[in-house]
Amino acid sequence: MGKVDSIPMSHPDFLPTGRPVVGERRSYGELPPEKRLGVGVVGLHEGHTLLVALRTTGLCRAVAGCDLSEDKRGAAAESTSGLFVTDDYDQLLGREDVDIVAIYTPDSLHADQIVRAMDAGKHVICTKPLINDPAAIPALLEVAERTGKRLQVGQSTRFYEPFQRQRELFEQGVFGDVEVLDAHYNHRMDWYYEKSPWTVSDTHWAYLGLSHPVDLVRWYLGDIEVVHAVGTTTALGAKYGMKTPDAISVNLRAASGRIGRVLGNYGFHELPRARALIECFLMGDRGTSLARYPDLRFTYHDDRGVEIEEDFHHAMSGYYFRHELKGMHYGEFANYADSFARAILDGAPNSPDLKEGLQTVLVMRAIVESLESGQVISPKRLIG
Ligand SMILES: NC(=O)c1ccc[n+]([C@@H]2O[C@H](COP(=O)([O-])OP(=O)(O)OC[C@H]3O[C@@H](n4cnc5c(N)ncnc54)[C@H](O)[C@@H]3O)[C@@H](O)[C@H]2O)c1
Repeated sequence: MGKVDSIPMSHPDFLPTGRPVVGERRSYGELPPEKRLGVGVVGLHEGHTLLVALRTTGLCRAVAGCDLSEDKRGAAAESTSGLFVTDDYDQLLGREDVDIVAIYTPDSLHADQIVRAMDAGKHVICTKPLINDPAAIPALLEVAERTGKRLQVGQSTRFYEPFQRQRELFEQGVFGDVEVLDAHYNHRMDWYYEKSPWTVSDTHWAYLGLSHPVDLVRWYLGDIEVVHAVGTTTALGAKYGMKTPDAISVNLRAASGRIGRVLGNYGFHELPRARALIECFLMGDRGTSLARYPDLRFTYHDDRGVEIEEDFHHAMSGYYFRHELKGMHYGEFANYADSFARAILDGAPNSPDLKEGLQTVLVMRAIVESLESGQVISPKRLIG
């Protein structure tokens, strides 16, 4: 710990690959394996995806894994040679070779595990939703301030190829001023309720599911001033005993006056030819674009108004899915791990960081309040 923090990107150990490029994979630079930042992963279901993804990164390496389940620890040790595994989070935190702790446990455990990781002197990657109870915000801000440790929200959708392409063109001004943004994450979740009962009993889908489209709205529109949400419980949600709505529609207005719309339906019958699970439909004063997940397709207007479709399935399904099922998250996780490592090594900002992630949590909290009260709600702002 500490040694690698001080290596500048100009150091000869870096094989400069320039800025991230579109191709077989994205690259944020390369370090020799022994100089890469060591990652310790807690929660080895979705966290196992990160272990595998780290095989393709240039700045990180998997060194440790923690899970209460013996089966998950066994699978992780088998897939990742040399991995230290434990069921004791404190043991993982005590390891010198862990520079970054990556958290993939049930939502309600994230806040406590972040505080403990930073207290142990580690940087943190935390999957989405960052937390599902804003009561933890003061403790998170305090520990980050006191320790100087950094946090990257594992906001996977942002780091998926079509969404990265959409952002690149947005930053080049291709779409102009975004006036309206329509984002959704719709996914029939019976398999998830079966696999992980905490997704029914111990979280709210305004956090667990809507964290993807709400983050996209904030990424483009900035601070959100008002939200109005309506929700219903689907037949599937009722069958699994869901106590809060599992189909939620939200209208949002940003401080800029621009507007967004977010939909999450976790009980519907999917129609993948017609609609992708996640979509970000960006309507700007100069052009329009659509990024989709898990399709590796991105559609937009060029400056002549000609509609263009970039299809990355052939070029990048090995990177994003490792040729398994569509939607395996390997590429997105590799992208955010390495972009975070690069920011740490450069002393540069990362995004979404702790404050940005917490501001998104406050928008999701406002959505819950709006669902409960039927009122239009203004999200609270982070202080400091
Ligand atoms: N797109 C994405 O980035 C994405 C996708 C899926 C899940 N997630 C997030 O990942 C998190 C986990 O989701 P999942 O589907 O893997 O859930 P899961 O229930 O399948 O797995 C959670 C794992 O955490 C382990 N665990 C629970 N408590 C623990 C503790 N105290 N110490 C160590 N291990 C513990 C469990 O044994 C289990 O293996 C959630 O926050 C979810 O929102 C993100």
